[in-house]
Amino acid sequence: MSARTILIAGNWKMNASIGMAEQLTGALTAWSARDGVELLVCPPFPYLVPVNASIANSGIKLGAQSCHAAESGAHTGDISAEMLADVGCTYVIVGHSERRTDHAEDDATVRGQGDAAHRAGLTAMVCVGETEAERDADKTLDVVATQLTGSVPDGATASNTVIAYEPVWAIGTGRTPTEAEVQDVHAAIRANLAARFGNEMADGTRILYGGSMKPGNAAGLLALADVDGGLIGGASLKAEDFTAIADAAG
Ligand code: 13P
Repeated sequence: MSARTILIAGNWKMNASIGMAEQLTGALTAWSARDGVELLVCPPFPYLVPVNASIANSGIKLGAQSCHAAESGAHTGDISAEMLADVGCTYVIVGHSERRTDHAEDDATVRGQGDAAHRAGLTAMVCVGETEAERDADKTLDVVATQLTGSVPDGATASNTVIAYEPVWAIGTGRTPTEAEVQDVHAAIRANLAARFGNEMADGTRILYGGSMKPGNAAGLLALADVDGGLIGGASLKAEDFTAIADAAG
């Protein structure tokens, strides 16, 4: 296994305000970064610019929560990957289950967004994960494999792509799969990447777990062989929880 830098990513979703963003990033920049752990914050679009200013020179990375596939044009209300790069983003989340549901984004849409991210020089964080009904029907690995095949761009490399495994039923619910179940899915994701892109890419690609990751369960999840970080929703809105999760890594 090649060395993969742990990535602790905060997806703020549709939360925060200017004041809260300043407070949160102020506390995060005071956290003393540790070797081998990278922090990423993904605020809502309006806060990208002020958050970028707050985290300047801290080593904390900036990401957005979605992007459009096109570079520019008549797409009212949308934001291009180039715009995100222009305001300081280095990451963009694509294919989050809330986007897939709220905006009917399918695998082809997500792949187009991932391609756009790469075109703009951003790292695409491609989200996959099963619903509770799919898990109950024992379809988790099939669903995740289909999403990977459909959503991950052909141009994916270990440096321009991160995969986030987020079981839909674990998001915001306080429930998680067992550690063994998480490891099984992550190993299957890595095997899927190896089959398509080769061992070197698969070995180097970070695969994050997301879904009710908290300070209390982070150490166990982050210690799993194929878990290379976390994509954190609710707990990323509290600096002490988010940094406690980062502290639990390694
Ligand atoms: P929670 O950590 O609130 O469960 O959200 C996870 C998530 O959806 C991150 O993208």
